Amino acid sequence: MALKHQKVVLVGDGAVGSSYAFAMMQQGIGEEFVIVDIIKKRTQGDALDLEDAQVFTHPKNIYSGDYSDCKDADMVVITAGAPQKPGESRLDLVGKNLKILSSIVPPVVKSGFKGIFVVAANPVDILTYGTQKLSGFPKNKVVGSGTSLDTTRFQVEVGKKLGINPQDVNAYIMGEHGDSEFADIDEASVGNRPLLDVAKEKGLSKDDLLKIEDDTRKKAYNIINLKGATFYGVATALMRISRAILRDENSVLPVGAYMNGEYGLHDLYIGTPAVVNASGLAKVEEVPLSDDEQKKMQASAKTLKETINKGME
Ligand code: 2OP
Repeated sequence: MALKHQKVVLVGDGAVGSSYAFAMMQQGIGEEFVIVDIIKKRTQGDALDLEDAQVFTHPKNIYSGDYSDCKDADMVVITAGAPQKPGESRLDLVGKNLKILSSIVPPVVKSGFKGIFVVAANPVDILTYGTQKLSGFPKNKVVGSGTSLDTTRFQVEVGKKLGINPQDVNAYIMGEHGDSEFADIDEASVGNRPLLDVAKEKGLSKDDLLKIEDDTRKKAYNIINLKGATFYGVATALMRISRAILRDENSVLPVGAYMNGEYGLHDLYIGTPAVVNASGLAKVEEVPLSDDEQKKMQASAKTLKETINKGME
């Protein structure tokens, strides 16, 4: 059976966007890759630079384009927006990045695009919501990168402490991709055993795990203070989400998903595990949270709702 030809349009060729393009190239996901940005010279240069990698990786038709290229795309990935500067929170970016978003989504829709939107620009939960509103697309066809990156950050740190491959740490960071996020420590597992039990054997208490949760929350700030921006982590998380969509994987991934009563929440995008496939968000996998964690989820949602109301004024 011939494989379906798949096309991805990236909007936003900053550090996150070009790292994502590179990750997609490395993994051989999709056959056609279009880069759109207001800085045309950069997209042209990046397309030329990236095409040189194909002999060592996978063949790909990669070029600089415009919104009309979205017409027959399977996915449009939005990374365009002002990045966080040292001292800024993600939520501080809401005004300027919603403005940028409102210049992107209408022309994408106007092209006749019928695929899946994936949003990574910050504050990502708000911009994912904004993308759905501006496009009028079905909620499942708009996916946020949500807490995908934060989850890997937690897995990596716990993995280091336990001497376990982080891929085998089954824990999620949930809620806002930002300062109110939290880890589902009470439900997390390693090799089917409760994380709390496995951690205890290594001399780690729940407080130690909560400290890792806190370090996870602060990790982007640390990286931004050190090198001015974060990009490889989020770019690779975006690649993972893209693979689940383009290969129709039905993978359970922590993403920004639309809430329709799950966790008692309505009408917002927030980080939770969800089944991701060619239809986008196929199903929210609602985690049975402990009372304490349920409170954290509610508090995180409240922060997002307040920002939505402020940002959409
Ligand atoms: C990150 O978490 C800044 O949202 C970006 O790396």
